[in-house]
Amino acid sequence: MLKDPRVVVTRQLPERIEARMKELFHAELRDPDGPMSKSELLAAVVKADVLVPTVTDRIDAEVLEHAGDQLKLVANFGVGVDNIDLEAAQRRGIVVTNTPGVLTEDTADMTMAMILAVPRRVVEGERLVSSNQWEGWGPNTMLGHRIWGKRLGIIGMGQIGTAVARRAQGFGLSIHYHNRNRLPISAEEELAATYWESLDQMLAHMDIISVNCPRTPATYHLLSTGRLSLMKPDAYLVNTSRGEVVDEAALAAMLKQRKLAGAALDVFEHEPAINKQLKELSNVLLLPHMGSATIEGRVDMGEKVLINIRTFVDGHRPPDRVIAKLIE
Ligand code: DGY
Repeated sequence: MLKDPRVVVTRQLPERIEARMKELFHAELRDPDGPMSKSELLAAVVKADVLVPTVTDRIDAEVLEHAGDQLKLVANFGVGVDNIDLEAAQRRGIVVTNTPGVLTEDTADMTMAMILAVPRRVVEGERLVSSNQWEGWGPNTMLGHRIWGKRLGIIGMGQIGTAVARRAQGFGLSIHYHNRNRLPISAEEELAATYWESLDQMLAHMDIISVNCPRTPATYHLLSTGRLSLMKPDAYLVNTSRGEVVDEAALAAMLKQRKLAGAALDVFEHEPAINKQLKELSNVLLLPHMGSATIEGRVDMGEKVLINIRTFVDGHRPPDRVIAKLIE
C-alpha cells in the first residue's frame, strides 16, 4: 500500500481526469502542455512514485535505470506500450499498465474512414473544391475505385483488427487476415474471415491492407521493401497502428513510382516528422495520429489510468498490467 503517492503526469489530460487525479493523489500535472524532454523525464522518474506517460514519451532503459527506488508504477495513458522498455521495467520491478479496450471502436472508425477515403479520393476531391479548381461534374472526373467486393487484408486481428473487420463487412469487403494466432473457427465464421498463415501470400492477393498489429520487436518494419513489393500495384495500404511497422522510406518511394495505388497513414516512423516525399503525393492521405482522438475515448483512457493507479496503490494487481513476454 502506497501512502499519498506522488503521481507525475507527462501531458495535459482531460480536465475531469486531472481534477480526479488531484483529489486522489499527490499529482503533479503538466502545465503548459507539450512532450517532456529527456531531461524532464529523467527528473520526473527521480521523484515520482507513479509516472503517467503517453506515446510521446520514450521511457527507455536509460530513463528507467535513472529512476529512484520509489518509482513503482508506470501507468501509460495509451494502449500501445512500444514507448516503454518493458524488459527494463521488469528488471527494476516496476509495474507497467496501459488502457486497452476503450479506444478500439474509435480507432476502427478512423481506419474504416481511411479505407474508404483513399480509393474514393475523398481528400483530393475536397482539395479540388476548396482550391476553386472544380469545373463541374464529368463522366471521367475524379474516378476512384469501388470498395464493394474488394479484398481487405488485416494484419493483426486483435480487438481493433476485429472491429475493423466488422465494419468492413458492412461495406461489402471480403475479410482476410494474418495474425500470430489463428482465431477460433466461430470468430472466423462470424466475420466470414479467411486466415492466411503466410503474410507474404496474403499481401500478394489483397486490394487493401490494413495494419492493426502492435509495434513489437517482431513487427518492426514488418512491411519491408521486400514485403511491400509483394503487394499488387493497384493495392492500397492503411496504417493506424504504429509507423515503425512499415518501412516509411520504402513506402514513399513505391508510392512515388506508382508501384502501389495509394496509402492512408495516421502514424509515422519518426512522429511528428513525416517523410517529405509522402507529403508531395496526391495518392496519399496523411493524418496526425488521431485514430483514437475522441473526447469520450480520452476520458475513458483517463478513467483506466486512475483505476490502475488506485488499485495498485491500494495493494492490488492493477487490471491492465502489461507483461513483457505476452506482447512479444
Ligand atoms: C494508443 O493508445 O496507443 C494510441 O495510439 C495513442 O497513444
